[in-house]
Amino acid sequence: MTMRAAVLRDYKLSMPIECVAIEEPRADEVLVRMVATGICHTDIKVATVQGLSPRPIVLGHEGAGIVERVGANVRKVQPGDHVVLTFDSCGRCPTCLEGKPAYCYEVRDVCFGGKRLDGSTTISCDHGLIHGNFFGQSSFASHALANERNAIKVRKDAPLELLGPLGCGLQTGAGAVLNSLNLRPGQTIAVFGTGAVGLAAVMAARIAGASKIFAVDISVERLELARELGATHIINSQSEYPLAKILAETGRGVDYSLDTTAVDAVAVQAIDCVGPLGTCGLIANKSPQQSVPVNILSAMMKGRSVRGIVQGDSVPDLFIPRLVDFFMKGMFPFDKLVKFYDFEAINQALDDAEHGRTIKPILRISSVSA
Ligand SMILES: NC(=O)c1ccc[n+]([C@@H]2O[C@H](COP(=O)([O-])OP(=O)(O)OC[C@H]3O[C@@H](n4cnc5c(N)ncnc54)[C@H](O)[C@@H]3O)[C@@H](O)[C@H]2O)c1
Ligand SMILES: [Zn+2]
Ligand SMILES: [Zn+2]
Repeated sequence: MTMRAAVLRDYKLSMPIECVAIEEPRADEVLVRMVATGICHTDIKVATVQGLSPRPIVLGHEGAGIVERVGANVRKVQPGDHVVLTFDSCGRCPTCLEGKPAYCYEVRDVCFGGKRLDGSTTISCDHGLIHGNFFGQSSFASHALANERNAIKVRKDAPLELLGPLGCGLQTGAGAVLNSLNLRPGQTIAVFGTGAVGLAAVMAARIAGASKIFAVDISVERLELARELGATHIINSQSEYPLAKILAETGRGVDYSLDTTAVDAVAVQAIDCVGPLGTCGLIANKSPQQSVPVNILSAMMKGRSVRGIVQGDSVPDLFIPRLVDFFMKGMFPFDKLVKFYDFEAINQALDDAEHGRTIKPILRISSVSA
């Protein structure tokens, strides 16, 4: 079948839309007509940094759409179902079996390898193969082939064109608070960076009943939005020293913190602002080599933990429908982060995301009723 896809052939933020071929679903696969796809900073990183994924490739990993056809063994979804596509996992390794698919042993191959695990590719054009399967979807396209595992059925009364970012950025921030850190009512948290991931964490902290939610950024507009979405204290780190303010307000430090900025000095503050028996979650990184110093005495005496977090420890079949329910009840108003673009304006949307002009761009690809 032919389809339209944004094909990345280079290492810059330029993905012309081309007419390409996509295979029919294999036994465990699902063909989805894309309605809309979010843009995540991981798309931007993979597009611009060498060595993370092969070329040519179709990126996109926050897809939302309607199931068109399913393979012979698929039981979870059927044609006509509304689905959010999320990260892929193997389903067989020890972490998948423990219900932690975000830490799948095969994550490099299934999410970044550009091929199925048997080495075949799902997309091609007249000049040869095109890598697909990015996060098991490659959803910067009119259609995507997902695995049954990473196609998540969602309720039909929810606005499908809005839901794609639940598949990565939003489940990461919200899941970090509700799953990874398991914040309890009355506890405190500091969220460094108020992009899509950080703001999802702020909204989740409000849902969980945090007594103090510190939001730290260098953007006045984003900090104002953070306040609207639940932050009890906002800190502009260009004019205030976050660590001093957090210690002054809490006395002994926060129970939890998250770094979503990937800035060395910020990550260090995120670790240092955590009080006794608290945990700092590291969600973002700039490069594979990035590392920051940890004060051992302080970590030891406070019994402080520092941990990495991928995809908010989500079990997507359970967590994404839960986030949709929160949205429908008005408790998780992530539509405030979103700006819609036509699919044809993908390069503008990528540029706006990279330069911070849009918090969460979503590409409109087809209408729900098409
Ligand atoms: N671990 C995961 O599973 C996972 C999943 C999705 C995204 N991510 C990563 O999370 C990160 C955040 O994603 P996002 O979409 O929210 O990005 P974003 O760029 O919108 O958010 C980052 C925020 O940090 C702020 N910032 C930059 N420098 C700062 C400083 N010195 N002090 C304070 N704030 C500063 C920016 O103004 C911005 O608001 C990205 O690096 C992305 O790749 C990780
Ligand atoms: Zn992502
Ligand atoms: Zn696995």
